[in-house]
Amino acid sequence: MERRKFLGWVTVGTLASSLPAVIAACSSNNNSSSEVNPTPSATVEIDSTPDGEGFVAVGTNQELEETGYIYDRQLGVIVVSNGGTLAALNPKCTHKGCDVVWKGNDEQLVCPCHDSKFGVDGGVLAGPATEPLPVYEFKQEGNLIKVKVA
Ligand code: FES
Repeated sequence: MERRKFLGWVTVGTLASSLPAVIAACSSNNNSSSEVNPTPSATVEIDSTPDGEGFVAVGTNQELEETGYIYDRQLGVIVVSNGGTLAALNPKCTHKGCDVVWKGNDEQLVCPCHDSKFGVDGGVLAGPATEPLPVYEFKQEGNLIKVKVA
């Protein structure tokens, strides 16, 4: 076999053998977004039928104590506990719509896409977002936390 042909086959073989590693590396990058997106926190079945005032149960006090937040993706609500003070907000970042993540230690809601930061009152602490997160009315009724989103 000619030297040139031999080197050509070695190059093709090397590229072909490294292809699975490259694909795996790309795949793990694609999956990283699921690691930073908030996980729905509901662990118990609750009746999500709106009450007479339009409040919907999103979770329990116990759940909030255990996780520091309640995230209801379907309803589009995140309830956070900041040192015993509760807040209910729309988790969609006002920059481009990624769901923010509650960082209890920093007492902030942080967007995993471009790192905007919001306070528990929804106010922008750091951009690129310029508009606050909408805040919802909520109430505690027995063991349930109910939010009015409409
Ligand atoms: S989508 Fe949140 S900072 Fe860009």
